[in-house]
Amino acid sequence: MKASYYSFSVVSILLLSTLISLAASDQLGDFLQCLPNSTHSPSWPISQAIYTANNASFDSTLRSYINNRRFLTSSTPKPLAIVAALHESHVQATVRCAKSSGLQMRIRSGGHDYEGLSYVSSVPFVILDMFNLRSIEIDMSTETAWVQAGATLGEIYYNIANTSNVHAFPAGVCPTVGAGGHFSGGGYGTLMRKYGLSVDNIVDAQIVDVSGNILDRKAMGEDLFWAIRGGGGASFGVILSWKINLVRVPETVTVFRVPRTLEQGATHIVYRWQQVATKLDSNLFMRAMPQVVNGSVEGQKTIEIAFYALFLGRSDALLDMINKSFPELGLKPEDCKEMRWIESTVFWADFPNGTPIEVLLNRPQGAQIFYKNKSDFVKDVIPKEALKRIWKLMIKAEPIWMQWNAYGGRMSEISGTATPFPHRDGYLFKIQYNIGWDEGGNETTVRNINLIRKVHDAMTPYVTRDPREAFLNYRDLDIGSNPSNETNFEKAVIYGSKYFKHNFLRLVDVKTKFDPQNFFRNEQSIPPRPHH
Ligand SMILES: Cc1cc2nc3c(=O)[nH]c(=O)nc-3n(C[C@H](O)[C@H](O)[C@H](O)COP(=O)(O)OP(=O)(O)OC[C@H]3O[C@@H](n4cnc5c(N)ncnc54)[C@H](O)[C@@H]3O)c2cc1C
Ligand SMILES: *[C@@H]1O[C@H](CO)[C@@H](O)[C@H](O)[C@H]1NC(C)=O
Ligand SMILES: *[C@@H]1O[C@H](CO)[C@@H](O)[C@H](O)[C@H]1NC(C)=O
Ligand SMILES: *[C@@H]1O[C@H](CO)[C@@H](O)[C@H](O)[C@H]1NC(C)=O
Ligand SMILES: *[C@@H]1O[C@H](CO)[C@@H](O)[C@H](O)[C@H]1NC(C)=O
Ligand SMILES: *[C@@H]1O[C@H](CO)[C@@H](O)[C@H](O)[C@H]1NC(C)=O
Ligand SMILES: *[C@@H]1O[C@H](CO)[C@@H](O)[C@H](O)[C@H]1NC(C)=O
Ligand SMILES: *[C@@H]1O[C@H](CO)[C@@H](O)[C@H](O)[C@H]1NC(C)=O
Ligand SMILES: *[C@@H]1O[C@H](CO)[C@@H](O)[C@H](O)[C@H]1NC(C)=O
Repeated sequence: MKASYYSFSVVSILLLSTLISLAASDQLGDFLQCLPNSTHSPSWPISQAIYTANNASFDSTLRSYINNRRFLTSSTPKPLAIVAALHESHVQATVRCAKSSGLQMRIRSGGHDYEGLSYVSSVPFVILDMFNLRSIEIDMSTETAWVQAGATLGEIYYNIANTSNVHAFPAGVCPTVGAGGHFSGGGYGTLMRKYGLSVDNIVDAQIVDVSGNILDRKAMGEDLFWAIRGGGGASFGVILSWKINLVRVPETVTVFRVPRTLEQGATHIVYRWQQVATKLDSNLFMRAMPQVVNGSVEGQKTIEIAFYALFLGRSDALLDMINKSFPELGLKPEDCKEMRWIESTVFWADFPNGTPIEVLLNRPQGAQIFYKNKSDFVKDVIPKEALKRIWKLMIKAEPIWMQWNAYGGRMSEISGTATPFPHRDGYLFKIQYNIGWDEGGNETTVRNINLIRKVHDAMTPYVTRDPREAFLNYRDLDIGSNPSNETNFEKAVIYGSKYFKHNFLRLVDVKTKFDPQNFFRNEQSIPPRPHH
């Protein structure tokens, strides 16, 4: 008994290791054979969408939609194949064939995931790339548009403005972010206090489910439609397109950028900003950006806080409002610039004054820097003494910088259960911590990641707790994760409750109903309910 058991296990170990090394290439072979068999659209041959390591442009295709250089190193696992869908049928085939060949599939639209989850996995995998599917169809008679997942925010903004001077869409400030990931993760930007998040203005969607079927809102039902508006699309299916409600903006809006150093009273100003920014007219969005800069004395560092604003109105009304409610800022008429809303998106994206709006049509340029970002939510005013401690820490942890985004307005009116995004009423602001670098050795990487973790740790007393909340679009594997190849429910509860609070269990129910086998997964996906 013992002897045969022993020989059985030796044989099976040998067999297993051979099988594992062969498995990936067999799976790829199956996948590549399956694809043409699963598409029946003669005018869209799928061969033109498939890239494997044998194709000369495999590398450039993979790279052009990687935003973070941290995941563009020689040790980053590479996909066995990329399908850059040219037609909806290619998306359906990729889902069916990845599933039948047992390969993991990662879905990529704009490639801006902070942790690279749309294009990296530690098990054999393929990428379903959506960048070719990027049509934008605007219907002004209903003030709506259908936008495909591969469209960028810049393209959406540009096309809206090319059709109307008084319409806009509430979404993020970075023009190269993709609609596929951004909207399914919530999507916030400068119109948040007036109109809420992107997901608050989405009225329909098309999704490819785990069986490869295309479902619209009516066919998928309200539960799944709820889940993909903030719960992350990648746990539930492939978003093909969104139907968005355009919102109204005035022909002229006003922006400002006012920097103040500690020596100019920045601590007091941002202390007051915490008290007023959420209560002001919802036509005004104000962001405070603390960062380390050189002080007036050679070799000495200080903190500068840049106050950025978008006001949906003219500068005289803005000056009046700030003078009355936030005089500490000392806003002057010459700080304010009037422009069209579309020009304000170029300003917010940090392009130099006067950059033509066509810059919004630039596609992602590949990864420029290495970075790590983290998030927090603040409900209580941070006292001045604490602010001073934070500045000291930031100066030690340079080049850390932060973005503080004021809440209130429309965000306080929408229920925390209306969408999976739970951080609504009762919040003062959202923090984003940022650190970027452009030299990729491990030492620098380890040092910088430790710095941002340290600052995040030090902020513990001032931010939400039980759970310490985080924003899905600011993906952060530090808050809990699973390995690429398994989804442990208990681990998922940890990150799930930080991103979604009480909405996590409803997301689990939707997942259990629509993808019980957990085909659509990544390190922070929603798990199906475990069976007992
Ligand atoms: C420079 C920069 C600025 C940013 N500014 C903002 C901002 O102002 N506001 C804000 O809210 N966020 C912002 N973000 C975060 C951004 O919204 C998220 O990273 C978002 O997920 C990116 O979407 P993507 O399609 O570009 O990314 P991807 O990396 O392609 O996808 C992100 C996630 O969504 C999944 N996914 C992508 N497409 C689909 C699809 N079609 N169907 C199903 N799942 C899909 C991916 O699998 C992955 O899990 C910014 C990010 C960067 C890098
Ligand atoms: C694909 O179709 C061809 C011919 O129709 C068939 O020979 C082949 O076995 C099929 N492959 C798979 C993986 O289904
Ligand atoms: C990749 O190479 C294969 C085999 O030569 C070819 O059939 C396919 O069309 C190529 N893919 C693209 C996108 O050109
Ligand atoms: C803007 O609109 C004009 C006129 O309708 C059209 O010719 C042009 O192609 C549009 N530009 C873009 C980038 O869509
Ligand atoms: C800050 O000061 C250092 C020297 O102390 C200098 O090298 C650097 O260029 C300065 N940065 C800016 C933005 O002026
Ligand atoms: C603010 O208002 C006061 C009186 O209401 C006025 O005296 C002052 O000049 C205003 N300041 C600015 C910067 O507009
Ligand atoms: C995340 O941090 C990097 C590095 O500082 C920065 O370039 C990027 O813009 C940050 N993301 C956002 C949304 O600000
Ligand atoms: C960084 O460390 C990882 C593992 O810790 C290693 O695989 C990789 O080669 C290292 N990269 C560099 C640039 O040293
Ligand atoms: C996942 O991978 C790890 C390490 O490669 C392995 O130990 C584990 O058994 C795998 N889990 C599953 C469910 O395959």
